[in-house]
Amino acid sequence: MLALPLVALAGPVRPAVADTVATMERHLDALQTIADQNNGNRAAGSSGYRASVDYAAKVLEKAGYDVTRQRFEITTYRLTERPAVAVVRPEKQRLRERKDYLVANFSGSASLQRPVVPAGGTRVPPPADGKGLKSGCSADDFPAETRGAIALVQRGGCMLTQKFENAQRAGARAMLLFNSGLPGEKEVVTITAENGNTLPIVFLSYRAGRDLLRSAEARRTVVRLDIRGKVLTKPTWNLIADSRGGDPERTLVVGGHLDSVPDGPGINDNGSGIALVLVAAQQMAERGEKPRNRVRFALWAAEEMGLLGSVHYVTTLPKHERQRIFAYLNFDMVASPNYVRFVDETLANPASVAIGDDFRAAFKRKGLVSAHFDSGGRTDTFAFIEAGIPAAGLFSGAEGEKTKSQQKRYGGRAGEPYDACYHQPCDTIDNINRRALREFSSAALTVVGEMARRKPAVPEATAARTLSSSPRYKGPYALY
Ligand code: TRP
Ligand code: ZN
Repeated sequence: MLALPLVALAGPVRPAVADTVATMERHLDALQTIADQNNGNRAAGSSGYRASVDYAAKVLEKAGYDVTRQRFEITTYRLTERPAVAVVRPEKQRLRERKDYLVANFSGSASLQRPVVPAGGTRVPPPADGKGLKSGCSADDFPAETRGAIALVQRGGCMLTQKFENAQRAGARAMLLFNSGLPGEKEVVTITAENGNTLPIVFLSYRAGRDLLRSAEARRTVVRLDIRGKVLTKPTWNLIADSRGGDPERTLVVGGHLDSVPDGPGINDNGSGIALVLVAAQQMAERGEKPRNRVRFALWAAEEMGLLGSVHYVTTLPKHERQRIFAYLNFDMVASPNYVRFVDETLANPASVAIGDDFRAAFKRKGLVSAHFDSGGRTDTFAFIEAGIPAAGLFSGAEGEKTKSQQKRYGGRAGEPYDACYHQPCDTIDNINRRALREFSSAALTVVGEMARRKPAVPEATAARTLSSSPRYKGPYALY
């Protein structure tokens, strides 16, 4: 006699959570193998990225989707020689790359040796409340001696681009921009000057800037800069796959970024989000589900180069297509080893917070607490929010440090980064927290399912184009 499996009688089966996690782990293993076979990374423009695109396309095609590769060009900047930043006077000292300084993305090239002229408005130490830090924000912060010299400016008070422009207008030959010294703003960060910039720009740690400022104020400091970089144009691809069925007039986009940084394999950032998007697509197909609303799965290129893939997608969509999208759900880093369950939403945008509420409710039903977070331009929700499309996502934490109260709520280690391997070679398959994978995928799949079936609601109809403020980041680049 044949033993009938009991589940066959119980109606449509939802794949067990264990299967979800096992499937995600297979995707993560595959991405790790791809990185291993391609110089240890999957960065946009590289062979590892192409292999990642091929892998994800194959998964989606096998599940029955028609997959579109959206090709576009990215402009990248690369240093062609090791840069050098050295104090020549009053005392010789070579600064260390990464520790003391980083050349700005799209910095101009130069070999020059010039006096350093501080801009007005520097505050060392910075004011405790952070207020009044506006060095270089106004044209008259730059004294006449700036012409032909290297301008020294402190971060804070306005967009960095404003400081670049003012320095260049004042005739500076190069610019050194040092961190503000406020809490969390002491180390070097990556900044971008955007393609087309010609001014040599170097970002300094607070400490390096402070030391230079002391002697520069006495007008005796000379610095030597050697920067050689070049701009390259390369093709890259976003991957798009639509659900079978579902009303195209109401499209839900579910996505994450597929590229890694050049420094590592990017398995948590963002293999984890990609594994989640792929498993959501696979499960919808396996169930033969034709959702009420159309669901569009999207894997973005070049997030790590300044959100280029998602920005390209949204800004080139015909207006009618854009109006069909009622929400975007973003998954960028969902398995950080020392995680917090962050719900990433644009706090000033009620329609974005409404999606955040859905994520919070999904966690809560599993007895899990979660925290508000506003990524403000650091991930792919940005282009959607700017276009007036409500967007929110999940995020398990990057370079930030876990606080004591977060440790009480989520466990893990206080005083340590959420992901100590963020943007590093050690962001491998061993950098994945299984429990986070389970919790985040459960909440994510619940919300994707609900929103795929949901009828139009009031908040989304009144979604305004409300950013929290001018964005402080463009992907990894600090703008402010
Ligand atoms: N997007 C960032 C990256 O890929 C990571 C990140 C930082 C992030 N803050 C975030 C992602 C907030 C989502 C939300 O490097
Ligand atoms: Zn990243």
